Amino acid sequence: MDWESFYDAHPSPSNYEPTITAVENFVCSHENKKIVLVTSGGTTVPIEQNTVRFVDNFSVGTRGSASAEYFLEAGYIVIFLYRSNSLEPFVRHFNNSLLDKLEIVDDKLIQVKNSEFDILYPILKKYKDAKEANRILTVPFTTLIEYMWLLRGACMLMDTKYSLLYLAAAVSDFYIPPNEMSEHKFQSKDGPPMIALRLVPKVLKAVTHIWAPNAYIISFKLETDNRILIQKSKEALKKYKHQLVIGNLLHTRKRNVKLISQDDVVEDIVLTDQDIENGIEIEDLIVSNVKAKHDIFLKSHK
Ligand code: PMT
Repeated sequence: MDWESFYDAHPSPSNYEPTITAVENFVCSHENKKIVLVTSGGTTVPIEQNTVRFVDNFSVGTRGSASAEYFLEAGYIVIFLYRSNSLEPFVRHFNNSLLDKLEIVDDKLIQVKNSEFDILYPILKKYKDAKEANRILTVPFTTLIEYMWLLRGACMLMDTKYSLLYLAAAVSDFYIPPNEMSEHKFQSKDGPPMIALRLVPKVLKAVTHIWAPNAYIISFKLETDNRILIQKSKEALKKYKHQLVIGNLLHTRKRNVKLISQDDVVEDIVLTDQDIENGIEIEDLIVSNVKAKHDIFLKSHK
């Protein structure tokens, strides 16, 4: 199935119109400013119409949520399109640990523990500043179909040279069309279910050629075999003709990425043990590098 038939066959999710209107208003209020769409986390593929079970993937959204923070720091306006319940910018620092950082003073007052103040303050300050200046919009999705609709809608609103599309979400390549799904929960008494997965059409060509041809577009390539990572990244650049592929391997993705550009230049970003001990995150280095490339792109597209 091609991408056009995919959208014809799968109507927009119920909350699509208000969500995309919010994105449109946000984009319009930041005309001619550098703006980035960060996609983050994995998509779910339901296997029942009344969904109890679904197929998911490993992505927890570290790449996207950390990058969104560094893009704000680099002066970008950020649209964060993320898998519901995956990591979010700023909040990610406190997942599971927020309650331990607070103490009850009396029955009317809760405060941050003294020992936690220096950690919490700068993060909270950056979060509040970004929110008050209306510099970040967070848009959740859960299923593959929600993601596909929101990606298309957002890209079409961001077709300018000021836009950077940073497609870090781990998008499922397989799905079950709703009309081929069981309506109700599979029953184990009926034996193992036979599930036929269909291929999800690649939409990157539509992103680069139709929806946002004027934007600076970065796709990510995830592999588990080092020997094919660069080759596959180069193939993607040739096929989709966008500006940059960021390649990473499943088990080393937090300390090593490769940036592959159209001119076949491969840049390695590597964190040392010392960097990691010092709390340096690879997304900080990725975003600085990407910002420099987008600045050059902007200068050459006057
Ligand atoms: O979230 P973390 O745990 O921190 O992990 C980060 C990450 C490993 C998920 C991230 O760094 C990453 O590599 N993301 C992309 C993984 C992926 O889905 O690759 P892919 O080969 O399936 O897709 C490659 C590109 O094609 C993607 O940029 C995607 O935008 C695009 N695509 C994907 C599916 C689809 N139907 N159409 C597409 O155009």
